[in-house]
Amino acid sequence: MSTKTATLTYDNKSVEFPVHGGSIGPDVIDIQALYGESGAFTYDPGFTSTASCESAITYIDGDEGVLLYRGYPIEQLAKDGDFLETCYLLLYGELPTKAQKEDFDHRVTYHTMLHEQMMRFFTGFRRDAHPMAIMVGVVGALSAFYHDSTDISDPHQRMVASLRMIAKMPTIAAMAYKYSIGQPFVYPRNDLGYASNFLHMCFAVPAEEYKVSKTFAKAMDRIFILHADHEQNASTSTVRLAGSSGANPFACIAAGIACLWGPAHGGANEAALNMLDEIGTVDNIPEYVRRAKDRDDPFRLMGFGHRVYKSYDPRAKIMQETCHEVLDELGIKDDPLLEVAMELERIALEDEYFVEKRLYPNVDFYSGITLKALGFPTTMFTVLFSLARTVGWIAQWKEMIEDPRQKIGRPRQLYVGETERNYVPLSQR
Ligand code: CMC
Repeated sequence: MSTKTATLTYDNKSVEFPVHGGSIGPDVIDIQALYGESGAFTYDPGFTSTASCESAITYIDGDEGVLLYRGYPIEQLAKDGDFLETCYLLLYGELPTKAQKEDFDHRVTYHTMLHEQMMRFFTGFRRDAHPMAIMVGVVGALSAFYHDSTDISDPHQRMVASLRMIAKMPTIAAMAYKYSIGQPFVYPRNDLGYASNFLHMCFAVPAEEYKVSKTFAKAMDRIFILHADHEQNASTSTVRLAGSSGANPFACIAAGIACLWGPAHGGANEAALNMLDEIGTVDNIPEYVRRAKDRDDPFRLMGFGHRVYKSYDPRAKIMQETCHEVLDELGIKDDPLLEVAMELERIALEDEYFVEKRLYPNVDFYSGITLKALGFPTTMFTVLFSLARTVGWIAQWKEMIEDPRQKIGRPRQLYVGETERNYVPLSQR
């Protein structure tokens, strides 16, 4: 326990606050008593300096470009681990033994099917619905189908709900895709690994055999690992906030998916690819870089910059490598999008504006090209992100529910509206 304190002087009164140190990372000033002691709130829009919880799951050092899941560097997990092992690690805190891994893989695998009645849920959507709209709806609807795992006070039910979501998310995501292109749903196959099964459900058709490429499955698995958790980002904070009211886990994850959809968060990979498409050729890059630097132009280089990483996003490096592996397997030597991406990255990394603001490529910069090469349309990119992030959301939700100090999240505000005034009847306005 730290003996450090921080003193705030306000209204001629000094108040002392305890300072807590984590295992690594910045200390936090514990201001829980601030309002009681001083009558003032803190003001921190966007939570740029506010720790909303204590967590032992994921650590990021944005200056050094470090990302650890339960202490393990992302590079090592992405290179030598697999996604379900990563899920186990995030949920239970330790890497599984061989027996634990087999048991976990088995439990996830045998929850992959969806209640048959849920199929009809999909057909209620328009064919041209964005698959993220379908994800929000169908995942939220899980709470209407799996009543035996919505009691959040029961640890067994919490774990069953967790496994169900990790297992069913690929099935839901693949069905959202199949529905959008008018093809029949493909049921999960228990003889395939997690990523292979997902690719099979997305790209197989009843008319012919579909063999999952090992390189593609590895790339998909890696993308899942890289996106599995990222501490208290917007969607994770949304899941925690929704869960803090005691809402069931399926509803909380649906809230996380809704938040992830935005272009400043999970929608960035779709936006990055659209941007590369729009730039089109290397010759056009200077014009887009100029626009990104122009304060009067709202255009931003999508896939660049991050709230936390002020150096190269470690996930982006792995993603770049994976991208090349997939393009090599496809025999694509001169992909115009990749060419634009690499040149844009080179120019931006040397440009004073980007250097000064410490804007580096983030994970979404190369994931879009990889996903496109794997055969996914851009509208599916954020869906894949939500699939992968589900385990992180669940691990964070469980950690919150199991924290004895947990209470409903309820931020304060700086009110700048009208002060009290009297109602004027309609006839007098
Ligand atoms: N292109 C051009 N300028 C930028 C960019 C960009 N991509 N990102 C930030 N800036 C500028 C911004 O204009 C601001 O300049 P100034 O100080 O002169 O006003 C400065 O850099 C700081 O930006 P900010 O918006 O205050 O930073 P933030 O931490 O609030 O935003 C961000 C982080 C990710 C929303 C932002 O960098 C962005 O919009 N990037 C593009 C979208 C993107 O790639 N998002 C994916 C994030 S990674 C996936 C995930 O974790 O969800």
